[in-house]
Amino acid sequence: MEKLVIEGGIPLSGKVRIHGAKNAALPILAASMMAEGVHRIENVPDLLDIHVMLRILRALGCKAELKGDTVSLETASAYSSHIPEELMRQMRSSIFLMGPLLARFGHVQVYQPGGCAIGERKIDLHLKGLRALGAEIEETGNTIVCRAECLVGTDIALDYPSVGATENIMMAAVLAEGVTTIYNAAREPEIQDLQHFLNEMGANVTGAGTDVITIEGVKRLTPVAYRIIPDRIVTGTLMIAAAATKGNVVLENVCPAHLTSVIHVLRRAGVQIAVNDDIIKVSCSSRPKAVERIITSPHPSFPTDLQAQMMAFLSLADGMSIIKETVFEGRFKHVDELTRMGADIRVDQNCAFLRGVPHLYGTTVEATDLRAGAALVIAGLAARGTTIVEQAHHIDRGYDRIERIFGWLGAKIERYSPIRQMKVP
Ligand code: UD1
Repeated sequence: MEKLVIEGGIPLSGKVRIHGAKNAALPILAASMMAEGVHRIENVPDLLDIHVMLRILRALGCKAELKGDTVSLETASAYSSHIPEELMRQMRSSIFLMGPLLARFGHVQVYQPGGCAIGERKIDLHLKGLRALGAEIEETGNTIVCRAECLVGTDIALDYPSVGATENIMMAAVLAEGVTTIYNAAREPEIQDLQHFLNEMGANVTGAGTDVITIEGVKRLTPVAYRIIPDRIVTGTLMIAAAATKGNVVLENVCPAHLTSVIHVLRRAGVQIAVNDDIIKVSCSSRPKAVERIITSPHPSFPTDLQAQMMAFLSLADGMSIIKETVFEGRFKHVDELTRMGADIRVDQNCAFLRGVPHLYGTTVEATDLRAGAALVIAGLAARGTTIVEQAHHIDRGYDRIERIFGWLGAKIERYSPIRQMKVP
């Protein structure tokens, strides 16, 4: 497995342009299956999960290619609605294809999805929503088969505002008969992006960004050209890294409105942040102040996908910070690794108590999942000495060559491949 080697202690400085949002691109690629023809999706990040989605689309009979940041996708030739198990296991987002394939073919066969090991990650809300629209669902062991002669709009109240379930139900409802209303819908910006994309294709969806989404079924969708929103989690990761290294960084092609809670927490820690249209400037010249309490929960609250990175940063703060994780129960795997770098963190159930230390020290650590890996890279950039982050492939699921992004900002970070025992350019 590949590893990242980081020489810490260099303040990040310079400008970087943020790539498109993985979590918007994945459901949008899945939704494109509902309109037969040629789509052009721009600002798509070159990430492992995107490549898995493209492989799945090809396995279903589509022609799909990523060139630069643009996906060209021809969906008319799709003939299958059976997602190969091996691909399904590689990425949880393969579940997004359930709604679109059911809407287009009237049946779909999938398997329990894989993904980062950060909690139980059930799909009961997805299935409940599709059943409410009229799908018959058979679960045999790992295999899930859904059938529906015709989907019919209805009212669906989610027990929890799940991002994936909201998106899957939205997509399935677009071609259903009549009106579907989703109550307690997730409000993440990626759901608004999906609504824009669906409506560009001819759908009639309103309310994304609020907790009530209404979908009036239409008969047909047509393919479109579309541009994905910037990745707010990559933006947040770079903001936190800039602050942790006491750097001075300008982030371009961002959407500041998607990061309100993160900006608020960083400002409380004493970080200077200036916002201007699609640019965020971050600088920090002194030791951060502890932040008394951060609670992760669905948007617009503090995102669980930035919890680990924020923990790396606050482990260096002056005073005691508390971080409570309420979204995923298994999302503190980075704590042991940060502790090995000198952090003073105690975990009690879903709360982490951080007594800030003046310095972290480089050592060998392991990325256990995508965002935990990003947190360890931040810790390594801020630490004294050399940090080796093993299992770097996890990080590639969400950051388009993280070593290149931080390299642009002056960091000393290199990737090594164990097969060739050499530096990867
Ligand atoms: C999406 C994001 C992920 C982010 C998460 C929360 C994508 C591709 N991924 O994941 O990066 O961390 O939102 O912001 O967009 N749950 C159930 N039953 C379900 C569905 C979810 O119990 O059917 C639970 C999950 O176990 C979890 C919580 O709900 O505890 C949130 O999950 P959800 O919002 O669905 O996250 P994802 O869509 O998987």
